[in-house]
Amino acid sequence: MEKLLKTLGPVCAIIGAQWGDEGKGKAIDLLSEHYDVIARACGGANAGHTIVVKGKKHVFHLLPSGALHANTTVIIGSGMVLHLPTLLEEIRTLQEIGIDVLPRLFISEEAHILFEFHKGIDAAMEEMRAAKSGKGIGTTRRGIGPAYMDKAARRGIRMGSLKDDLTKEIEARVEPVKRSFGATVDVELESKNLAEARKVLAGRVANTVALLHRFLNEGKKILIEGAQATLLDIDHGTYPYVTSSSTTAAGALQGLGLPPRCLTSCIGVAKAYCTRVGEGEFLTEVMSETGDRLRKRGGEYGSTTGRPRRCGWLHLPDLVFSAQVNGTTHWNITKLDVLDEEETIPVGIGQKTDGSVQYENLPGWKTSTEGVISFEKLPKNAQAYLTFIEKQTGVPVALAGTGQEREAMIVRE
Ligand code: GDP
Ligand code: IMO
Ligand code: MG
Repeated sequence: MEKLLKTLGPVCAIIGAQWGDEGKGKAIDLLSEHYDVIARACGGANAGHTIVVKGKKHVFHLLPSGALHANTTVIIGSGMVLHLPTLLEEIRTLQEIGIDVLPRLFISEEAHILFEFHKGIDAAMEEMRAAKSGKGIGTTRRGIGPAYMDKAARRGIRMGSLKDDLTKEIEARVEPVKRSFGATVDVELESKNLAEARKVLAGRVANTVALLHRFLNEGKKILIEGAQATLLDIDHGTYPYVTSSSTTAAGALQGLGLPPRCLTSCIGVAKAYCTRVGEGEFLTEVMSETGDRLRKRGGEYGSTTGRPRRCGWLHLPDLVFSAQVNGTTHWNITKLDVLDEEETIPVGIGQKTDGSVQYENLPGWKTSTEGVISFEKLPKNAQAYLTFIEKQTGVPVALAGTGQEREAMIVRE
């Protein structure tokens, strides 16, 4: 690990390379103990980052996954949209297992508050889309798009105002929300949620941009926890089937108020195959029983909504694209163990003139890789699989996941 940490340098971003759920949480958890500060930059409780420690599962939606490590400072950055009851619940869940994150948590005063009515608007918009074209985007219905709509329309309410009485601002939304979306604003419920959050969180709201720069100047090490993933990016993803935030490394820096030149490395996280939740293109999707087998072996059900994830093969052009956009310096290829029983593993390497995917069929290894922690101990064909990814993308595989548990990771120096 020591050599790898040297190549990562003091400011590292961990960014999803596909359509999310690649296993970013596990990579963050593994590296957190070597960093002083863990910062989430964008998105909201549409994220679900799972960590498994000694058989116990922890799922993070708003708090950075690094919060599990008692010595880390935890930042919720300016680019985020925060559903406060969810944040309180996460803080409580950690308290119940003896982890008090509050004294080391800093929430950006610029982060936006996501209200219950944003969820109502999200659902109403999905239904409108479905009525019009037969299908929606397949959002998580966590109110993400509508919260970012308010932010872009410059009528959002930010964490810096949490200390104030916001009743008038919320009342002012009742009519327009009803008129435009047929959705309800429950002023009483919103006010109650705000009051509860104010008690616990008001003292944790801070100028996190200044704070992060102080940490940088003090030579502290910062780990940036990306949420969602490159192909879900509002600009560069598979629009309109994307989320509403900037999910790239650049988006993460923007969301934290850090300058691009401070980033010393970017770990791209990609599954050894591919999944997607929600609608939108997925060129290498497999519908057959092979898809079902991947879903079953990989436990591919959403950590936020429980929806079955669509499954398919790795598509290398997406990884090349993701490496370009993010400046990926290292790969973490996850869930290699899920492919253990495959006879052959098709990998999408490009598109034919008729638009169909061109595959290269790599031989499977038909041996358990679960829990393997050194590259040399992997079956030859599994080694060749990772080497193929490196050659085709020009980015080294520094980490490779071989199971859910924290320890099940190959670290290549
Ligand atoms: P994230 O959103 O990118 O953090 O990923 P999720 O937590 O939503 O989904 C990844 C799932 O895969 C979680 O259930 C993880 O516990 C699991 N996982 C992560 N890495 C591995 C791995 O190497 N092997 C296996 N079998 N499971 C993994
Ligand atoms: P993590 O951080 C997987 C997807 C939704 C939907 C689209 C828009 O756990 O990888 P939204 O609710 O954001 O408006 O939904 O984006 N999506 C994710 N898919 N993992 C995520 O986060 C996701 N966050 C959003 O399924 O297709
Ligand atoms: Mg997830």
